[in-house]
Amino acid sequence: MPRVTYVSAAGARTTVDVPVGDSVMDGALDNNIPGIIGQCGGGCTCSTCHCYVEAPWRSRLPAAEVDELALLEYAIEWRPSSRLACQIRITEALDGLVVGLPERQLP
Ligand code: FES
Repeated sequence: MPRVTYVSAAGARTTVDVPVGDSVMDGALDNNIPGIIGQCGGGCTCSTCHCYVEAPWRSRLPAAEVDELALLEYAIEWRPSSRLACQIRITEALDGLVVGLPERQLP
């Protein structure tokens, strides 16, 4: 099963198994990883699953759709590496993915 590492804003790393087809948000919520809220349940309407995907992983993901890009404009502490965790579906090719978490999400 692919493994995903979540890195808190303070630098704490947590690595968990995330089933293929689940989202990066699902992986965080299923493993009680703080920093991802997922208020809309993955519907791409809240941006409380904001995360950062740095190189080299960033280029391995499908590009963000228009809806995701629009919502990211409201994310706190936006960076060029910002993505919505609910929009990243895990595949075998993403085994080893590392995502950073912001200090806070929208309330
Ligand atoms: S969980 Fe709401 S946008 Fe991702």
